Amino acid sequence: MRYISQYPDIIMNKIPVNLGERSYQITIGKNILSQLGDFIIRLTKPCKTLIITDKNVNALYADIVSKGLAAHKFDVKVVSMEPGEEKKTLSTVEVLYDAFFDHGMDRKSLVIALGGGVVGDVAGFAASTFMRGVPFVQVPTSLLAQVDSSVGGKVGVNHPRGKNMIGSFYQPIAVFIDTVTLSTLPRAELLAGMVEVIKYGVIRDASLFDYVEKSLPKILELNDDALKTIISKSCNIKARVVEEDEREAGLRAILNYGHTIGHALEALTEYKKYRHGEAVAIGMAYASKMAVIMGLADETVSMRQISLLKRLGMPTENREIKPDDIINTLYLDKKTLGGRLRFILPTKIGEVIISDKVTEEVIRRTLE
Ligand SMILES: NC(=O)c1ccc[n+]([C@@H]2O[C@H](COP(=O)([O-])OP(=O)(O)OC[C@H]3O[C@@H](n4cnc5c(N)ncnc54)[C@H](O)[C@@H]3O)[C@@H](O)[C@H]2O)c1
Ligand SMILES: [Zn+2]
Repeated sequence: MRYISQYPDIIMNKIPVNLGERSYQITIGKNILSQLGDFIIRLTKPCKTLIITDKNVNALYADIVSKGLAAHKFDVKVVSMEPGEEKKTLSTVEVLYDAFFDHGMDRKSLVIALGGGVVGDVAGFAASTFMRGVPFVQVPTSLLAQVDSSVGGKVGVNHPRGKNMIGSFYQPIAVFIDTVTLSTLPRAELLAGMVEVIKYGVIRDASLFDYVEKSLPKILELNDDALKTIISKSCNIKARVVEEDEREAGLRAILNYGHTIGHALEALTEYKKYRHGEAVAIGMAYASKMAVIMGLADETVSMRQISLLKRLGMPTENREIKPDDIINTLYLDKKTLGGRLRFILPTKIGEVIISDKVTEEVIRRTLE
């Protein structure tokens, strides 16, 4: 999968996502942003292009992306939203539709989502619905977006009654990941994003888990090879899972490892106490303990995860919220099928099962 570009100093990894006519490639490397125009001209003719970003990312990276596209005669405009999860709403989508009209966009135009997962989700949703679908490119700039949200085509916004409740499946035509952008990402966001990387190791790839255990200092120093390794391995796992189960009929649920309890904790603390990755870290620690209690995994499977998450400075338990409150919230989660709770449980590092056999007693013993 290694490939040397026309720029001899740049080695990129390319990962295919094979979904028939919706197939695309993920390109991962250093300084990709400065060459984005050169890449995109190979995908589509010059056209009206709207870069959707947020104010933080706009100040850092919108110029370089605009210039690269303008050099290839793309007619580029930038629209920048306020940063933050609170802006992942239908009102922001309406503002984006106005920007589409103002720029004279149609189904032959192009949307570029430049930013973290919030930008990717909301821009992708706007692109998926404007005139029933404008092609879009994901250019994720946060670690979470690079390893998770930019790949797989889930796009959407929040509703006052539930997070991510309004949305669709709409694949991008390409994903471009520039590792350099992580140098400006706030440290706490980087650490929270690492939780998803560890998640991939637990669900599908023991060698990725081992690598993070061994190379954590290098990763956190933003060593480029280390970043390319963890991002490529993570994207590869997500791509393979999505290829098998694009619309989450079954297997794709394993990507929610640690998320069942994680989501409950986020909801119970009104999305204020924890970053997503922090809540998922607690959820992973608890799910691994459930697996041990149920005799599905030996204790080291849980201990290794907890100790690695602690090295990232992640919380691995919550003793403030009452187990009853957590259990009640779990039953409200949208992933409850026919009233039964489903948990993703590890059997070893690199392998999980989807189980609806977790009893309330096991949950209680884990939480208490
Ligand atoms: N679609 C999916 O499959 C999927 C999967 C997981 C998460 N998500 C969604 O992703 C969202 C979270 O994404 P996130 O963690 O990227 O949050 P985010 O988009 O809010 O970004 C976090 C913060 O970092 C800033 N930022 C981003 N890149 C930066 C950079 N390179 N330098 C400096 N600042 C930068 C942003 O402006 C923001 O303030 C949630 O809404 C979640 O629901 C979606
Ligand atoms: Zn997640």
